[in-house]
Amino acid sequence: MLRPLRLRLLIVCFGVLALALLGCRAEADEGSTAPSVNDTTTADTSGIYRYTTPSRDGIGKVYMGREISKIMGHRGAGWLERDSRETDERPGQVVDSLQLAPSDVVADIGAGTGYFTFRIAPRVPNGRVFAVDIQPEMLDIMRRRIDRQQIDNVTLVRGTEKDPSLPPDTIDVAVMVDAYHEFAYPREMMTSLRESLRPGGRVVLVEYRKEDPSVPIKPLHKMSEAQVRKEMSAVGLDWVKTLDMLPRQHFIVVKKPDA
Ligand SMILES: C[S@@+](CC[C@H](N)C(=O)[O-])C[C@H]1O[C@@H](n2cnc3c(N)ncnc32)[C@H](O)[C@@H]1O
Repeated sequence: MLRPLRLRLLIVCFGVLALALLGCRAEADEGSTAPSVNDTTTADTSGIYRYTTPSRDGIGKVYMGREISKIMGHRGAGWLERDSRETDERPGQVVDSLQLAPSDVVADIGAGTGYFTFRIAPRVPNGRVFAVDIQPEMLDIMRRRIDRQQIDNVTLVRGTEKDPSLPPDTIDVAVMVDAYHEFAYPREMMTSLRESLRPGGRVVLVEYRKEDPSVPIKPLHKMSEAQVRKEMSAVGLDWVKTLDMLPRQHFIVVKKPDA
């Protein structure tokens, strides 16, 4: 009498176990291929990126061995204007090191509140600064300052995650300070930016030094020089030099080859 009942119980148990295993498998597959919640565009099928479980500050998307960090939201705008940046990041020295000519056309990509845009603009009185960001709130902050101070050589550009939306063959120097590690589509961004550079045009990346554990910044907000060079080389930008005069950051210069 009890035997068929036991058999039925056993079959039910096996069934439940099999379903549970299938469920786990499906979840694992999703974790490794689905775009992270931070991706606002459609699923990526390029094969350039790998997907993983997001770490605390990351989006779970890996590019050339590096997990991409979350974007700093516009609510952190005040932090970008903090006084301690003067000593920690020496913005004056950064701008001097860009070696700009008065007529240069500069792109500040991931401009945020314009901390660098408004320091660069007076150095290119006969040129222009394109201040690019994907967050409209950041552009609003910059627009208010442009209006208040009647600045006439800054153009605001709302880029997309894949494209800085700059005109082709125009930019002499593109600057990215504490921004590149946040790009959700670094390959697409840099491929498009390369098209916007003039032949011989430079790209300057300022990123916290990953090699230095004493730099008190979250790991995904830092980049090693080797990683930056590898990623720039992948889009046909040639390394020119790395300056390590800043207390915490690399200043890395790459360029589009001359025509
Ligand atoms: C940490 S903030 C740095 C802002 C500024 N460069 C500075 O040093 O004060 C990074 C900025 O990059 C922007 N950003 C992230 N991904 C971007 C993309 N694909 N294109 C343009 N801007 C982007 C963010 O919206 C944010 O304002």
